[in-house]
Amino acid sequence: MDQYRVFGNPIKQSRSPFIHQSFAQTTKQAISYETSFVELGNFTTAVNEFIGQGGKGANVTVPFKEEALELADELSERARLAGAVNTLSFSKGKIYGDNTDGEGLVQDLLRNNVKLENSRILLLGAGGAARGVILPLLAKNPNSIVIANRTVSKAENLVEQFNSSKLSASGFEQASDQVYDIIINATSASLTGTLPAITASTVTKNTVCYDMVYGKNLTPFLVWAKAQGAAKVIDGLGMLVGQAAESFFIWRGVKPEVEAVIEQLKKALAQE
Ligand code: ATR
Repeated sequence: MDQYRVFGNPIKQSRSPFIHQSFAQTTKQAISYETSFVELGNFTTAVNEFIGQGGKGANVTVPFKEEALELADELSERARLAGAVNTLSFSKGKIYGDNTDGEGLVQDLLRNNVKLENSRILLLGAGGAARGVILPLLAKNPNSIVIANRTVSKAENLVEQFNSSKLSASGFEQASDQVYDIIINATSASLTGTLPAITASTVTKNTVCYDMVYGKNLTPFLVWAKAQGAAKVIDGLGMLVGQAAESFFIWRGVKPEVEAVIEQLKKALAQE
């Protein structure tokens, strides 16, 4: 049976084994998928040990995505531009690095019937999470993407790395001068129960608000967006399943259905 893993620290909370085992069942693929806790400083050794045991591929999560980028012999364009790798494939003595996070977001937006083409997008945050979704979003031909960050220089650095006239950088206040079709929260503010400081004027009744974070309850950003009358609020659970589906496709050549898995995870979250 082909073996896969997710490497991380912490890792116990990971939902990836459940997701990939579900995909394997529905697509009738015989694979095993387990979590692997890795001590800091031990990532390369852990991956090489797994390859030695016949491992076929792995997901990589916090805090090893940048180390995975360094470790890979070959990188996809989207991994290179994301500056991080979440999917490794091992074949013929080589390590291939890819990043499926951004495609996971794009697929989840499309699944929710959000039109990306020609849309005005506000991307909040300029850390790793924001960087990872820029190329896949640009590939859907939006009208514009404003990257707004608390520290404006970080947003400016990001724009410089992508050669696209559709991208611009700003602070939260300046970004609040316009309205948007889609606002994506890629800051880590939700993890600490806080809200990026954008103003209500950015949200109209046609605006879709997306938070990459998910949980049992709506994130502070989505609670705020709902109160402003946003057309739709969506959390990052579908993005999680979407990135897994894209990894599964890389490894197995089959695209799994995501809907049932998302529903099962929603139910499990509600019971926690
Ligand atoms: P990640 O990999 O999750 O993107 P990161 O690279 O540490 O993590 O980036 C965190 C992002 O969330 C940054 O854009 C950060 O803003 P700064 O660059 O100004 O630090 C943003 N962030 C974190 N907490 C925030 C808050 N309370 N309000 C607004 N932005 C916040």
